[in-house]
Amino acid sequence: MIDDEPTIMVGSRRLPSRYFLAPLAGYTHLAFRRMIRELGGVGLATTDLVQASTLLSGRQKAMDLIETSPEDRPLSVQIFSGRTDELVRAAVWLADHGYKGIDINMGCPMAKVNSQGGGARLMCDTDGACETVSRVVSAVDVPVTVKMRLGWDRDQITAPALARAFEQEGTAAITIHGRTRSQGFTGEVDHEGIRRTVEAVERIPVVGNGDVRTVEDAFRMRRSTGCHAVAIGRGAMLDPWLFVRLARALEGEDPSWEPSVDEQVAFLVRHFELMVEQHEEYSCVLFRKFAAWYGVRLGIPEDLEDRLRRFESFGEFDEIVEQIRRRHGTRQGEIATALIKVPNGPVERW
Ligand SMILES: Cc1cc2nc3c(=O)[nH]c(=O)nc-3n(C[C@H](O)[C@H](O)[C@H](O)COP(=O)(O)O)c2cc1C
Repeated sequence: MIDDEPTIMVGSRRLPSRYFLAPLAGYTHLAFRRMIRELGGVGLATTDLVQASTLLSGRQKAMDLIETSPEDRPLSVQIFSGRTDELVRAAVWLADHGYKGIDINMGCPMAKVNSQGGGARLMCDTDGACETVSRVVSAVDVPVTVKMRLGWDRDQITAPALARAFEQEGTAAITIHGRTRSQGFTGEVDHEGIRRTVEAVERIPVVGNGDVRTVEDAFRMRRSTGCHAVAIGRGAMLDPWLFVRLARALEGEDPSWEPSVDEQVAFLVRHFELMVEQHEEYSCVLFRKFAAWYGVRLGIPEDLEDRLRRFESFGEFDEIVEQIRRRHGTRQGEIATALIKVPNGPVERW
């Protein structure tokens, strides 16, 4: 077990735990963040990546992504762009509107982001990336963090040098996904690469990220890389109780307890309720994406899972839940990571 101060400072912010929810575009929306926080143990959550220009033009899509609530704290908003001036203006807009943390995306491998010079592409130009970070940091009073990968590919591992330079520019923390852009989501997370990034900085926290699915994975990430905190993305989808387990383990309690089926059904219902607060009836459509996931988690018979994928009204949702309460199964083994869609095929075509 790792024995250290449970809270952590990121710039001027004291975060209540060292285990953070990593952004998963399309999944870690407000309802999901609030739900995970209600379970407990989350130190920080970050919005899905938001295109700076979309935010600046006030488009509804961006407004939905940055929507938050008093319970959704501490929160950082993640922005991306290949243009420094847009990132600066978006950061200023966010700080002016009361957001307390800004995260710059330098890890996204998607072509539509990289082709505009954003996401992981920024890691290829050390001077440009430093200039960008420096200008964003100087423009706002709130802590600015950067989330990146190890580098573009095996031959360009730029994370340690960039982390050191970003620290000098005033970045408050770095999150590092231990894969290169060209690896996409394949291959093993390189703890050694993360460790080299941790060693490259002097004072700021480095947050290790990648493939943490269990309490033991999280502690191993901390031990083998020396990172100060851990960001968990898909692991939080596969097991939303992971942060509670971590909190329990740190308190010396048994982390391996399982929530009862009633608690899990309550979780499903709460997820939908919170979605409805934000999206009203459109939640019936948005929730469909989670049908397969809840289907596996709750061992829901196929016909019910299918209805969860098609329902059109609140009344129908209530009826399905009633059926689930009566006809759930027991969880069948592990939920496959495959239920969380990552792009297929060669990374160059993503
Ligand atoms: C579906 C999906 C969406 C993602 N969206 C984002 C995002 O918006 N911003 C970001 O920085 N990383 C994003 N990531 C990367 C994750 O935050 C994380 O770095 C990566 O999945 C590895 O960590 P994990 O194994 O804990 O999920 C996404 C990953 C997935 C699978």
